[in-house]
Amino acid sequence: MSHQDPKTTKLRSAQWFGTADKNGFMYRSWMKNQGIPDHEFNNKPVIGICNTFSELTPCNAHFRQLAEHVKRGIWEAGGLPVEFPVFSNGESNLRPTAMLTRNLASMDVEEAIRGNPIDGVVLLTGCDKTTPALLMGAASCDVPAIVVSGGPMLNGKHHGKHIGSGTIVWQLSEQVKAGKISLDEFMSAEAGMSRSAGTCNTMGTASTMACMAESLGVTLPHNAAIPAVDARRYVLAHLSGNRIVDMVHEDLKLSKILTRGAFENAIRTNAAIGGSTNAVIHLQAIAGRIGVDLEMDDWSRIGRGTPTLVDLQPSGRFLMEEFYDAGGLPAVLRRLGESDLLPHPGALTANGKTLWDNVKEAPNYSDEVIRPLDNPLIDDGGICILRGNLAPKGAVLKPSAATAELMVHRGRAVVFENLEDYKARINDPELDVTKDDILVMKHCGPRGYPGMAEVGNMGLPAKLLEQGVTDMVRISDARMSGTAYGTVVLHVSPEAGAGGPLAAVENGDWIELDCHTGRLHLDVAEDEIARRLEANDPTQDSRTIARDGGYRGLYIEHVLQADEGCDFDFLRGCRGADVPRHSH
Ligand code: FES
Ligand code: MG
Repeated sequence: MSHQDPKTTKLRSAQWFGTADKNGFMYRSWMKNQGIPDHEFNNKPVIGICNTFSELTPCNAHFRQLAEHVKRGIWEAGGLPVEFPVFSNGESNLRPTAMLTRNLASMDVEEAIRGNPIDGVVLLTGCDKTTPALLMGAASCDVPAIVVSGGPMLNGKHHGKHIGSGTIVWQLSEQVKAGKISLDEFMSAEAGMSRSAGTCNTMGTASTMACMAESLGVTLPHNAAIPAVDARRYVLAHLSGNRIVDMVHEDLKLSKILTRGAFENAIRTNAAIGGSTNAVIHLQAIAGRIGVDLEMDDWSRIGRGTPTLVDLQPSGRFLMEEFYDAGGLPAVLRRLGESDLLPHPGALTANGKTLWDNVKEAPNYSDEVIRPLDNPLIDDGGICILRGNLAPKGAVLKPSAATAELMVHRGRAVVFENLEDYKARINDPELDVTKDDILVMKHCGPRGYPGMAEVGNMGLPAKLLEQGVTDMVRISDARMSGTAYGTVVLHVSPEAGAGGPLAAVENGDWIELDCHTGRLHLDVAEDEIARRLEANDPTQDSRTIARDGGYRGLYIEHVLQADEGCDFDFLRGCRGADVPRHSH
């Protein structure tokens, strides 16, 4: 056997497995208990498969099978696959919100990659937070990495119609409240919504983040939309396994792909797909890890004015299965590029080609699902970044999910101090509220909740729903599910729990929203706002006190505001993948 001297090779893993001495013996010998022959350790790229499999994350519960197909591709290309688990953020079960542990998962990923004999990594992502968490962790190491998403569920079915993950829940629960459908009918939709393995089949956060990964260039083409149970998903996993081995040989690290240009492409893409507001937070966080200086205003500057072409729920009609059949993300990127709306067509992607090379001949099989530029679903699909004395560091609104007439609105504030206060009073027949008022909720931000829950799309008061009201302006420091809709101002920062001006809003204050100029204004004298904020010490709010210690305490102490992606202050930046000291 001839284990190479680590100085003559560029593989990280050779610094574990590449020496015929005590250290090499120890690193190899224990690995051999898995039945790995000696020659596998002889300078073959070791490829980590970072797996977010968990039966508590139903969206990622098919990942053992997905990993097997990745492994086939790695073996075939001459690599050594090593699968490892990381913390799995499941959106549907985790309380108080999967966002609380996104950063925890990213730390898990980063330390697992750096501390282990890994030359390149395949990131198996699916449910909402798993995509940003794994990209954040891998970006902080800056190793060659490729994302393989789990793929969306098949279309939901109910009473002979297609129903979309999440979106149908919001719709039906409002219909129950308004007395339009029975509770039995509501319950019977439950089984039909989630018919197969995979992630939410709407253009919610999971599908959005899969599209973000593809437009950033960190996946093979078509990764975003192939259904989870489609054999072509497994082919893509196999090919990604092939490709990562070459990426290691080419030293195609994440920093060569995740450039500023890549993020600008992704911002445009998010507008074209009618993507989730959560993408703003996650892309800010990923950019912060790789050292790209992305500003909130970049979302307005680059995204606004871009039409939404993809007619998917919650903004439109169809679901991910139809999106893939129509041509998937490559067809969208081609349409953008042909209209000079792809800011950086020459951006490098994981397969070694440019983004434009990958999509320039992509077919489009349905102008209904992926609409032409001259007949878009929404003329201006970009995320609206709002600023003003109510949100000095910004807030966001998704125009494609909003009601056009409410996007310029002046209304009287109806204030809820927190989620519990909202729940206790929203359906009170005595609540002083009209359809022209603005619902304001505080203390649901990163520190205040903690974890910035998806509660910003507050359901409307039952008495207004009964009158047929379908939308109102709502403002909070919370997030909202990518499957939700409404004229909802989110991510107000700084949040109330960090002493932001949102904390100063009182019942009856007038608030002005203007999505055309990007203004969010509290019509109260500045000295009065200052006086109210002084009287309202945020550290007195029990929700902002890290009294429990543990991870929650760490989170509250170190989480940054939404404009910096809610990352931890100590996690921003790339720390590289220098091989640590020996363990023995
Ligand atoms: Fe996991 Fe929607 S809940 S993808
Ligand atoms: Mg979601």
